[in-house]
Amino acid sequence: MTFNFDEVIERRSSGAMKWNLYDADVLPLWVADTDFRVPEPILRALHDRIDHGIFGYQFNDPALREVITRRTAARYNWTITPDEICFVPNLVAALNFVCLAYAEPGDEVLVQTPVYPPFIAAPTNGGRILKTADLALIHEGQTIRYEIDFDAFENAITPRTRMLILCSPHNPIGRAWTRPELERIAEICLRHNLVIISDEIHCDLLLDGQQHIPIASLSPEIAARTVTMMSPSKTFNLPTLGFAFLAISNEELRKKFEKVTAWYLPHPGAIGFAAAHAAYTQCDDWLNALLPYLAANRDYLVQYVAEHLPNINITRPEATYLAWLDFRALGLDKSPFDYLLEKARVALNDGAAFGKAGEGFVRLNYGTPRATLTEALDRIRAALQTAQV
Ligand SMILES: Cc1ncc(COP(=O)(O)O)c(C=O)c1O
Repeated sequence: MTFNFDEVIERRSSGAMKWNLYDADVLPLWVADTDFRVPEPILRALHDRIDHGIFGYQFNDPALREVITRRTAARYNWTITPDEICFVPNLVAALNFVCLAYAEPGDEVLVQTPVYPPFIAAPTNGGRILKTADLALIHEGQTIRYEIDFDAFENAITPRTRMLILCSPHNPIGRAWTRPELERIAEICLRHNLVIISDEIHCDLLLDGQQHIPIASLSPEIAARTVTMMSPSKTFNLPTLGFAFLAISNEELRKKFEKVTAWYLPHPGAIGFAAAHAAYTQCDDWLNALLPYLAANRDYLVQYVAEHLPNINITRPEATYLAWLDFRALGLDKSPFDYLLEKARVALNDGAAFGKAGEGFVRLNYGTPRATLTEALDRIRAALQTAQV
């Protein structure tokens, strides 16, 4: 079966935030949803569910629990049990609740910057204290790459630090952490008695045929202190359908999460359950076609920057459809986000939102048809040429 990821689909009329936040002449490559149509089996499952015509309380989906455990075993060689799964409507809310569940007011929560903005907001939203450890930026010509600065990481931990929120694979820098890196992170967390919140929402988007490694799969000892977060929403482009899940094997940690969320956090809706079931059982061929399309877009983007955008450095993401570009060498008199919005009429994400380490950077979402990506890059190139920066 072939899939047409080149199809340009009009999205403004659907109410999509990505396409409506800015003026109509702005090309949006910012928020992390893709411009690809959802796989047919998911659409069929949604039609079937709608056609049933009754949407009473559901709360649970025992069959989906089984589906998820089979999938995590097959895909990541990671054994979880159906009862350790907690269904949630989305992961950003869960990020906020885990800070309440596993840290007291005045306790510290560690994140590795630059990082997805809700990681930075969640600890302080609930009156906990944010601690940051910058990742180490490495230049390889015009390509940049981040590694974990383990000294900075361990030095940021104090006796009040209770948790690490890990982004794996990491948004925005596109790293899929290697087994040795994950082992070292886990060893430090073990030594300092930290709970590991591992946001693995991008786990199905490893671009070069690598297998995702859930940190909880490293050992039972690590699993016992880890809360893993996953969702079909990035992979299959379903963020607005309201389905995600956590896997928490440690009963005490699971009960704490259930206690802080009870009455506050809604269950997924019937539509979300139906979509997740189809995504996890019938869409492997679609995903197998998506990944090379994304990898080709990534390669095209990196090549384009090398050929046409001098002095801009860029990551070569190992995972995700998000690239991270360093504009600092251009010496712009405003943030690259503002500059590109104004002069190129292209909306990216402002790197400053990803922590201080992101100032002077932008995040670009290449989960879009090649024609849209090309148009955006041509606009950026023309704007920079006109300004002769
Ligand atoms: C690392 C990470 N976690 C969570 C989310 C959002 O998840 P949700 O839509 O389930 O709140 C994103 C979206 O970009 C993300 O990149």
